[in-house]
Amino acid sequence: MKSVSEIVQIGPVIPVLTFESVEQGKQVVHALYQGGIKVLEITLRTAVGLQVIKHAAQFSSDIVVGVGTLTTVDQIEKAKRAGAIFGVSPGLTSDLHLAAKDIGLPLLPGVMTPSDILFALSLGYDIVKFFPAQQAGGLEMLKAFRGPFPTLRFCPTGGITKELARSFLSLPNVVCVGGSWLTPHTAITAQNWGEVTRLAHAASQLARANI
Ligand code: 3PG
Repeated sequence: MKSVSEIVQIGPVIPVLTFESVEQGKQVVHALYQGGIKVLEITLRTAVGLQVIKHAAQFSSDIVVGVGTLTTVDQIEKAKRAGAIFGVSPGLTSDLHLAAKDIGLPLLPGVMTPSDILFALSLGYDIVKFFPAQQAGGLEMLKAFRGPFPTLRFCPTGGITKELARSFLSLPNVVCVGGSWLTPHTAITAQNWGEVTRLAHAASQLARANI
């Protein structure tokens, strides 16, 4: 079982993906992989999420598939069965923490406030998702978190663009960033998989200060 610390080192950007159909999911996963993306998050915001996770998990032995938008315990069991290697949640509850631990699914929990962080630290997390990053204070908020929480590392997600990604990744407490900018709506509806590969390639080349 890979730890979250190992998983976030795989690439500087974790695409956050929501699909309308299994076929669309297959095409996007392929296009991202062609661009060098080896770790990704497939959300359960649509009904096809679990099926795409299943496909992506079998697509290549070097792809690490995460399940995103985990909010309930039963989603954790289903996603693990579908082949998810790690889980991402917009927040954190004791139930989610215990379920992920019991089943052996490494969890990247979401935080937005110092109290959220204290709760995550109390459960032993040393890497958390900062969500929604841009809306919750962005770069300045992460700089401010460094004072009281010097050892905590973040994966900011939410509102991040390809321009902002570079700035987030230059912060010493940022290990990777998450976002949907690699799969713009226009490219997906036009089935412009080449554009997805191009954006993925650019993202996978981004430097980070923390690694
Ligand atoms: C997430 O759930 O992590 C976000 O919706 C991704 O945010 P973005 O679409 O603003 O990149």
